[in-house]
Amino acid sequence: MSGYDGPAMARHFLSVDDLDTPELSTLLDRSAAVKASPRDVADRLAGTAVAMIFEKPSTRTRVSFEVAISSTGGHPLALSSAELQLGRGETIEDTGRVLSRYVDAIVLRTFGQDRLEGLARTATVPIVNALSDLEHPCQCLADLLTIREHKGNLAGLVFAYVGDGNNVAHSLLLGGAKMGMAVRVATPPGYEPIPQVVERAAEIGRTTGGSVEVLHDPATACSGADVLYTDVWASMGQEAETAERARVFGPYRIDQAAVDLAKPDCIVLHCLPAHRGQEITDEVIDGPHSVVWDQAENRLHTQKALLLWLMDRD
Ligand code: CP
Repeated sequence: MSGYDGPAMARHFLSVDDLDTPELSTLLDRSAAVKASPRDVADRLAGTAVAMIFEKPSTRTRVSFEVAISSTGGHPLALSSAELQLGRGETIEDTGRVLSRYVDAIVLRTFGQDRLEGLARTATVPIVNALSDLEHPCQCLADLLTIREHKGNLAGLVFAYVGDGNNVAHSLLLGGAKMGMAVRVATPPGYEPIPQVVERAAEIGRTTGGSVEVLHDPATACSGADVLYTDVWASMGQEAETAERARVFGPYRIDQAAVDLAKPDCIVLHCLPAHRGQEITDEVIDGPHSVVWDQAENRLHTQKALLLWLMDRD
């Protein structure tokens, strides 16, 4: 051993902004190909191991990554920080140094983006953001693939996000702008996406034909939209604010009235888990415009394509 353990040379996926527009487009194409012919990639990760560290709960991300890794021949290790020495104070940087000696990629769901950045600074294998307080880029890949499947294209679509200006909204602002969509985000005052992300998405939009609008009127956002999207009003870590958020977010719900404002052939997405009766009604999530189950399935296909690309196996 030389003792040298950095800097990392691997490619990471910490933000949607880690991909440029051609790369994002290619990754969506590869996701569609993987979905159409899963057997073609059945052994592409043979001989590899991928660590998945979850510092927050997960259903879709954990299961879809585990299946994506095992069904391409790799060995997934699902770990919680409580099981690791992370839970007893070992730094994320030292964890990255050590795990890089055992595994071929690390997937991390965590709180601050700084933890992902710390891991990426010291790890010599690809790091994937499986949700942070700032972004949920893997969710955005599945969302874009789902919209493209149902609409045939992405550029020029009017995309309306109604609800909290959270991590999901941040990734959608960046991803939508990269793909040339007109992204409208309607939030209550004080719950907007952070200005740095909005400014970056607007800058991207100026090069792709996309655009970004942050509004406070959900009806204006939904009017004439091709795509409606919502997410929970209180994200993980905001449980103490649940009651206050339920009061403030009442008008920011995707219900039949919101659907009626959108285009007649609009589609409705939700990254799930849904709080039925809060940010989305039963009538809409179970209705003819909803594509949320396709959206959830596409986590699997897009993450397979992502891992194959990051691990140089595609
Ligand atoms: N959408 C999403 O990330 O779901 P989980 O929290 O269940 O992983």
